[in-house]
Amino acid sequence: MSQIYPIPGDERARLAHDPQRPIYHFLPPSNWLNDPNGLIQWKGRYHLFYQYNPVAARWGAIHWGHAVSADLVYWADLPIALAPTPGAPDQDGCWSGCIVDDNGIPTLIYTGFRGETQLPCLATSTDDLITWEKHPGNPLIAAPPPGVDVLAFRDHAVWKEGDTWYQLIGAGIKDVGGAALLYRSPDLRAWEYLHPLCVGDLGTTGEVWECPDFFPLGDKHVLLISPIPLRKTLYLIGTYAGRRFTPETSGVVDFGGHFYASQTLRDDRGRRLMWGWLWEGRGEAAQVQAGWAGVMSLPRVLSLLPDGRLGMEPAPELALLRRSHHCWTDLHLDAAAPFVPAGVGGDALELIVEFALGDAAELGVKVRCSPDRREWTSIVYDRERASLAIDRRHASLSDDCQRDACGDRLDLAAGEPLRLHIFLDRSVIEVFANGRACLTGRIYPALADSLEVELFARGGSAEVRSLDIREVRSIWTS
Ligand code: FRU
Repeated sequence: MSQIYPIPGDERARLAHDPQRPIYHFLPPSNWLNDPNGLIQWKGRYHLFYQYNPVAARWGAIHWGHAVSADLVYWADLPIALAPTPGAPDQDGCWSGCIVDDNGIPTLIYTGFRGETQLPCLATSTDDLITWEKHPGNPLIAAPPPGVDVLAFRDHAVWKEGDTWYQLIGAGIKDVGGAALLYRSPDLRAWEYLHPLCVGDLGTTGEVWECPDFFPLGDKHVLLISPIPLRKTLYLIGTYAGRRFTPETSGVVDFGGHFYASQTLRDDRGRRLMWGWLWEGRGEAAQVQAGWAGVMSLPRVLSLLPDGRLGMEPAPELALLRRSHHCWTDLHLDAAAPFVPAGVGGDALELIVEFALGDAAELGVKVRCSPDRREWTSIVYDRERASLAIDRRHASLSDDCQRDACGDRLDLAAGEPLRLHIFLDRSVIEVFANGRACLTGRIYPALADSLEVELFARGGSAEVRSLDIREVRSIWTS
């Protein structure tokens, strides 16, 4: 049985006054979070586990934290689910993995970390996912497959076809590239290695694939991977046949520079929901001092778009968080006339804006602007480059945080408006663009009055067809 830590209930209250700490994105009561793990809907409720260091706001001694939600929005903390066991294959960490329903028995497969070794381990629960009994036969697999020169061997995606279980383990093959290794089992305990489900290319998809996830979507299959050293999550969409996966399209899941190690679940409405880890963009000392580090993304609903790419939208349940609503239509923007909504702003907002591009060279939205414009962050579309970026170069007067511009291509069809759905949550900006691109960034404004919003166009004019701004409530106090 893993050790049960009581979660100190007052940790959230103690940290709630930190102006950088998000109020409606999930994060642990305190200390360190990285990857989402074990995502599953169980008896109607959504369970979110996560890589957790319960003793410091830095990576180390990784446990599985646990939270539950009935609606994907409000979360309740549950006791730590997994802790390293001294002398066991997970003595130095319980790393990423997944949970499946084995005929009514919740079964968790994770990476046990000991010394330099990463091997698959299993645990089961008989009390609805609260406590977990580790399998006495851990590790399940004694070593990476013979003859494959692997650079890493960790993180798990497990699914069932007929009576047979399949498992993917993230890996890298030396001098070849990232890979997802495929195993099969009759009982989740005895595993036979088959072959790589898919192998990448060193130059384009990195050396090691962390956190593989694999699932059907529409009439295709999707493989999500987080490659070292790319520091972003990629999706590959293609055909799964004969136990091999052939990618046909690919893309970046989020190009804001702060989203990684995603995992998904399929819920009882048939939706494929994805979360990712939003890492910090400030120095380690500042993280430790703050007493918390790492935030979970909002849940994203995935779909297969007609052109074969990945569609991503925020879960509609997030509308539960809306407070006041302000809206405008048909605003004209040019360099001399930005739009600053009078009296509407803040550090926890949802904005939905639809732009007609006009002839502007650049247009977009600024948030967290100080009235004197010494601080601001923009989400900016560059027409000529057809690119969308988060520009954080002026996000903070502090120099202990990342201040760069990060973006990628977003091609708009002729006449297609630019639709931005922006979630601002203190130090998090999560942007959904036209249902098919996401950018998430972390910002740390230093000025208390960096709260204004501005819509702008430069090098020509643009029209705002509609703008909706809502204040958003905290998920912890109501
Ligand atoms: C990804 C990752 C995983 C590993 C876990 C350890 O962020 O490195 O590959 O299982 O984090 O915390």
